[in-house]
Amino acid sequence: MAAVRSASVDLPAPEATFDLGERLGRLLAPGDFVGLHGDLGAGKTLLVRGVARGIGVAEGQVQSPTFTIVNSYAGGRLPLHHADLYRLEGMDELYATGYFDLVGASGALVVEWVERIAGAMPDERLEIAVERTGDLTRRAVATAFGARAEALLAAFP
Ligand SMILES: Nc1ncnc2c1ncn2[C@@H]1O[C@H](COP(=O)(O)OP(=O)(O)OP(=O)(O)O)[C@@H](O)[C@H]1O
Ligand SMILES: [Mg+2]
Repeated sequence: MAAVRSASVDLPAPEATFDLGERLGRLLAPGDFVGLHGDLGAGKTLLVRGVARGIGVAEGQVQSPTFTIVNSYAGGRLPLHHADLYRLEGMDELYATGYFDLVGASGALVVEWVERIAGAMPDERLEIAVERTGDLTRRAVATAFGARAEALLAAFP
């Protein structure tokens, strides 16, 4: 499926990254998938903390699930599932985590290092790349795949 729409936004401070996540979190609905790209320390987890706030989950729970692969946070408007594929070797390992039970399920699924495993992303998804532009500055480039993600992108950033 071709990318149908994309948008970029400058993030001049960590708070801007958190706020962007919060705006996205307010819009997320069951079954939504957000794939995050960006180098180590780019700001993916900070963005997810904002998403948690937007969903109504206490953002203090949010840690990069590098070892656990998937963390699930309750207490918000809907469940927030947060995955980090950095340490995974391949598809078999990903299946074993139960990840695919969460794709399209009743929560929103947000995934760091999603590009590590080919096949980890559903056809319909929002992708956000966080790029480092300076010590305290970043740029987010969001790309929508499918009608639902397009609608999300139209409402944010
Ligand atoms: N504009 C900014 N947006 C986001 N983070 C920023 C910004 N400026 C500085 N930072 C800092 O960059 C770091 C981002 O860390 P974070 O854990 O979110 O990265 P990550 O992309 O999840 O890394 P990893 O791949 O290791 O999981 C934080 O220490 C944060 O304070
Ligand atoms: Mg992280």
